[in-house]
Amino acid sequence: MTPATIIILLVLGLVPAMRLGAVDEQPKTLENLFSYLETNETTTKQCFARYLPQLESQGTTWSKSYSSCLKKSTSERQSLDTNVSAAQNQLREAAMGISAFIDHCLDISDALDFFNCFAKMSKQQLATVYTISYNASEDALSLSQQLSTIDVEHYLCTNRTEHTYVEGTDRVFRDLDQCLQQSEEH
Ligand SMILES: *[C@@H]1O[C@H](CO)[C@@H](O)[C@H](O)[C@H]1NC(C)=O
Ligand SMILES: *[C@@H]1O[C@H](CO)[C@@H](O)[C@H](O)[C@H]1NC(C)=O
Ligand SMILES: *[C@@H]1O[C@H](CO)[C@@H](O)[C@H](O)[C@H]1NC(C)=O
Ligand SMILES: *[C@@H]1O[C@H](CO)[C@@H](O)[C@H](O)[C@H]1NC(C)=O
Repeated sequence: MTPATIIILLVLGLVPAMRLGAVDEQPKTLENLFSYLETNETTTKQCFARYLPQLESQGTTWSKSYSSCLKKSTSERQSLDTNVSAAQNQLREAAMGISAFIDHCLDISDALDFFNCFAKMSKQQLATVYTISYNASEDALSLSQQLSTIDVEHYLCTNRTEHTYVEGTDRVFRDLDQCLQQSEEH
């Protein structure tokens, strides 16, 4: 951690107790930090006034970008749900058609008509049963592929967001350090 980073974290109250303990064990480091602030208070203040807003802006960008990743994957899932529900309805209707056909055959009391009804089913309805099974397995495969694509894209989006944030704050901290060192040299 650079001295500027430590100062920022102290200012923001973000240094965990353990880290503070570590700093206490090295009074020299702490002295160096205070000498930063004391050498030229005006310039030091100017440095912070300039770079703290930049850090805030990095945080805002991260937050916006993260929620946009979330929004994107949520809306893709909803769109997928909508698309899938059409196929679901097709399958449901086809299955209900067969069910109705079987009920209709079961209701027939005349033996000859009863057998003929089921005989017809083997030709027409079994093709539908096969289609239902075939479509269902294709739909299941396609759905799970699309869901994992959405997951991967979401991961890449948030990972990119993290990466941009880490790089951005690192750059600001380095600039701030440079600014503080220049004020010390004056
Ligand atoms: C849903 O279907 C539409 C039209 O077929 C397509 O443009 C869109 O990409 C689909 N959505 C998903 C998440 O697959
Ligand atoms: C099966 O899928 C095909 C092609 O997508 C479609 O045209 C047909 O209506 C589907 N049938 C059923 C029973 O879902
Ligand atoms: C995720 O981010 C890390 C650090 O920025 C990077 O090293 C890694 O390659 C990224 N992973 C993917 C799959 O992009
Ligand atoms: C402190 O900084 C101010 C403004 O940058 C400058 O005018 C002044 O000379 C500096 N003082 C010292 C002691 O370096």
